[in-house]
Amino acid sequence: MSTPFLLLLPLIFKAILLLTVTVTQSEAYSTTTPFQGHDPEKLTHLHFYFHDVISGDKPTTIRVAEAPSTNSSVSSFGAVLIVDAPLTEGPDPRSKEVGRAQGMYASTDMKTFGFTMVFNLAFTEGEFNGSTVGLYGRNPILLKERELPIIGGTGAFRFARGYALPKTYKSVDKDAVVEYNAFIWH
Ligand SMILES: *[C@@H]1O[C@H](CO)[C@@H](O)[C@H](O)[C@H]1NC(C)=O
Ligand SMILES: *[C@@H]1O[C@H](CO)[C@@H](O)[C@H](O)[C@H]1NC(C)=O
Repeated sequence: MSTPFLLLLPLIFKAILLLTVTVTQSEAYSTTTPFQGHDPEKLTHLHFYFHDVISGDKPTTIRVAEAPSTNSSVSSFGAVLIVDAPLTEGPDPRSKEVGRAQGMYASTDMKTFGFTMVFNLAFTEGEFNGSTVGLYGRNPILLKERELPIIGGTGAFRFARGYALPKTYKSVDKDAVVEYNAFIWH
């Protein structure tokens, strides 16, 4: 009995040492306290239309940068566009505005139209007036089914996470009306 036990002793010491270190570190690493006024157990479904207008004298979207090779690229690779576009209740741009999509997208796929989207969706109606969510992800605009992550939020959407499903409702030349269904856990 004594020989195996002696052989095991260094291992036991190491285990105790490791345990002590782990416990001390995890105590120092994080603490969780209740957050006043936040009940993170709601799933909100938002439905709205995004109006991306490049043409005409009232564009929502302006191209601010490109590479020398952008115009000869099949996917406008390298183009960067800045956006402040209305989000409306219906597909008609004159329908009630519920917020703004402010941000940018850039063509980041060499082979097909695929944009990297970096957006704040700032809501201006109802219980979400003044609240925002951060939308960030890859948008291969020619596909019928797309999905973008929602990676955070403010106001009613503090601690938000979720996803948005954009679907092109109508597109004429470079302008588009895009239907969004967003599911936000907050
Ligand atoms: C590329 O095309 C855009 C939009 O059609 C135009 O504004 C821009 O001047 C063109 N750039 C070059 C380098 O030709
Ligand atoms: C949204 O909030 C702003 C700022 O508090 C306020 O001025 C505006 O009237 C509100 N809009 C609606 C539709 O409640």
